[in-house]
Amino acid sequence: MNLRTLINKLPPEATYETSHLLLRLPILPRLLKALGPRRPVPARLNHKTIDGPIGIGAGIDKDGLLMDLAAAMPVGFHVVGSITPSPREGNPRPRFLKYPELGAMINAMGLPSRGAGAALRIVKSKCPSWPNSKLLIVSAAGFTVEEVVRTARAASAIKCVDYVELNVSSPTYRGLWLEGDGLRRLLGEAERLDKPALIKVPLLRNIDAERRLISELAASGLGLTIANTLPITAPLPRGYGGLSGAPINELVVSLIRIARRVGHRGLIIGTGGFLDGASVMAGLRAGADLVGIVTAFAMEGPAAVYRITAELRRYVGKPNVSSPP
Ligand SMILES: Cc1cc2nc3c(=O)[nH]c(=O)nc-3n(C[C@H](O)[C@H](O)[C@H](O)COP(=O)(O)O)c2cc1C
Repeated sequence: MNLRTLINKLPPEATYETSHLLLRLPILPRLLKALGPRRPVPARLNHKTIDGPIGIGAGIDKDGLLMDLAAAMPVGFHVVGSITPSPREGNPRPRFLKYPELGAMINAMGLPSRGAGAALRIVKSKCPSWPNSKLLIVSAAGFTVEEVVRTARAASAIKCVDYVELNVSSPTYRGLWLEGDGLRRLLGEAERLDKPALIKVPLLRNIDAERRLISELAASGLGLTIANTLPITAPLPRGYGGLSGAPINELVVSLIRIARRVGHRGLIIGTGGFLDGASVMAGLRAGADLVGIVTAFAMEGPAAVYRITAELRRYVGKPNVSSPP
């Protein structure tokens, strides 16, 4: 039985919390560095070479405690968050389910975080050792424009933060950001941040509404992270959750293609069911600049990063993956 099979046989909540504790141990980044050199597959973004087209998407490192680990891995970017202005416990447990045979998860974490004060202090403390060859992204969440903007502004004032991702698409909001003019007001505020912003695009059950939303967001000129999880009913205490992993991949790749087709020229991070090198390449070829992995990391831990990086090596020199500089 390999490690992945063993981990996936244990209760999901227990493995998530135990593995998070293990991943935070300072020995792990040191071990990974010592095991090196594991050469990343370099990627180019805005004339800068970064440590690969893949990175860790929002939800794995809620409070910045895994930044040392991310710094040691062959990833081109790392997302911290989502962070809310005040600390949040999140939903009652259990709050996620794993379906390894489907390469899928359903989660209803409920945006737990230590809150902007504590989490951004952690991020700031790790800036001096954050590598120049990786982008650092902070995901800001909240239930009002003011809440999201408060965290986004505080994050964008931190020197080593390259982008601020605005999470308007968590299933926890239950569609809140799609009502009224909140999203439009937030887009206006996003343009005034000190650092460039990315909007985390929701997956909607109505494909026409999704196309309209992508066109509207593309017109804003802000970066896009396509996409968040697909809200579905689930046997969890809240009765719903967000589906992630392989089942949403085809839809996510199509939405990336649509965003480029409607003329979006800004940064696109594809996130949703990118579980291996071939799917990452499909995302890049559809028009994503970078690809985030979340479910793959939640199921396999750092091994997912090394496996996908090794698989990507086959494509080096082909369109979308740089040759070593
Ligand atoms: C356990 C878990 C927690 C997540 N938490 C967040 C979050 O805090 N903020 C956010 O924008 N997305 C969050 N997501 C969504 C992921 O960032 C990603 O958009 C989605 O899971 C699709 O990617 P994947 O198929 O690689 O998991 C979470 C996903 C999972 C599985």
